[in-house]
Amino acid sequence: MTGPSRTVPDPTDLIVAPSLLAVDFAVSAARDVAEVADWLHVDIMDGRFVPNRTIGLDHFAVLRAATSIPLDTHLMIEDPEVWAPRYAEAGSTYVTFHAEACPDPVALAKDIRAAGARPGLAIDRDTPVEPYLELLPHIDMLLIMTIKAGAGGQAFLPHLLEKVRTARAHRDAGDLHVRIEVDGGIAEDTIGQAVQAGADTFVAGTAVFTASDPATAVRRLRELAVATRAGARAAADAVPPGGEGER
Ligand code: DX5
Ligand code: ZN
Repeated sequence: MTGPSRTVPDPTDLIVAPSLLAVDFAVSAARDVAEVADWLHVDIMDGRFVPNRTIGLDHFAVLRAATSIPLDTHLMIEDPEVWAPRYAEAGSTYVTFHAEACPDPVALAKDIRAAGARPGLAIDRDTPVEPYLELLPHIDMLLIMTIKAGAGGQAFLPHLLEKVRTARAHRDAGDLHVRIEVDGGIAEDTIGQAVQAGADTFVAGTAVFTASDPATAVRRLRELAVATRAGARAAADAVPPGGEGER
């Protein structure tokens, strides 16, 4: 750990997490962005929950040893109750498993915590968020897919931000400390919409790693997110109490 930026951030901070899927989990690419990114997002696929397969614990350990940045592990796998604690023990800061693959998310969240990481729950494209709202007090992050889980480089699906709005309203109403992460198609032209919907944590693979300078791309995404949130807050503050202003 090299300083405050390497610790788990305040829940209100905006986080940009480059996805190493876009660079085939290359250690050199991880190092290239580790100084500017908040976290690195590590997509684990098993060829069962989704058709593709990616890395396993061996290569995860190599990534963990290569940098000190928090690792945001996204398990797109069957049987997450078997593997999630192992990715926690292997040095993940967050371990996120899919609701569609887990019969008892609260129990698995406890196991992830006991293994030393923060639990996240992911909701895929075709899964409604409402049945999971009551679980928010038990998890540290809700990952709302903005594509169908399974591959990078897909087009952002803006209608899925409705789930972000729903989750954010529920979080705010309950004063819950849970991050809301979006994953899929996040880029300069989409991150603002995700911020306005209420997300605070942004995964970006293609947008970061196809840029001529990935580190600059990370900084730019964060700047856009910060500026969008500041603009949204200023607009909200401009509304007079009890009204929405003149029409
Ligand atoms: C896909 C993964 C994503 C993927 C995002 O299922 O969960 O993290 O890397 O890639 P982009 O940013 O290219 O949409
Ligand atoms: Zn992911």
